[in-house]
Amino acid sequence: MDLKIFKDKQEVAEQFSSYFVDQLKDKDAFHVALSGGSTPKIVFDVLADNFADKVDWSSVHFYWGDERCVPPSDDESNYKMTVEHLFSKIEVPKENINRILGEKDPVNEAMRYANLLEIDLDRVEGTPQFDLVILGMGDDGHTASIFPHEIELWDSEDHCVVATHPDSGQKRVSINGKVINTAKEVAFLVTGASKAEKVKAVVEKTEGSDVYPASLVNPSAGNLVWFLDKEAAAKLNQNPS
Ligand code: 6PG
Repeated sequence: MDLKIFKDKQEVAEQFSSYFVDQLKDKDAFHVALSGGSTPKIVFDVLADNFADKVDWSSVHFYWGDERCVPPSDDESNYKMTVEHLFSKIEVPKENINRILGEKDPVNEAMRYANLLEIDLDRVEGTPQFDLVILGMGDDGHTASIFPHEIELWDSEDHCVVATHPDSGQKRVSINGKVINTAKEVAFLVTGASKAEKVKAVVEKTEGSDVYPASLVNPSAGNLVWFLDKEAAAKLNQNPS
């Protein structure tokens, strides 16, 4: 596990953008699963501002680790957020954007998306393998859309599952734990003081932390990177500050 701690969200965004572009080097095709929520917004803004014309985006194939079951025009849509903060600012071929159809029936869409991943991606023992999975983490220790109250979905045999947000009841489509842990590399993007308690529990594997889905992230290829700001890292024992 590689822990990278930066002073604030802006520096996390700058450092992550450089890391992401480094990952693309010498790759004819790069398959990445994006995270949703609010943390990626500043990261996508910086990625577009600093690298829009420095990257051959035709080699980058975009997918999502999870999506809210809402239309693409909805403010809750991770796809919409990514269009506003990234795709509207870079030259990426439409066919390279593989969104989860949040407006469709969740069960059917989870099956469709799982099938798409099987077709598009290399597979390791039948499990689609991303080059990179980007994850966020909720204040409750959830990641992608695998929430503590449905942690059994992590071990689902289905590459993509239907989840339910614990408070809003909103349906989500999410990749499962096996797809996450089969990725060549996994990067957590986590910022803000509200995450500090769960960052400590998950990173330091404190007692009882196995109830948090984020604690189950353990890529078999072994490449796990955390991009944290000081606030999110504030409770870590090995926090340099
Ligand atoms: C989503 C996500 C989810 C997110 C965390 C953190 O669709 O909501 O993919 O896993 O990464 O909830 O969200 P914030 O970045 O908004 O704190």
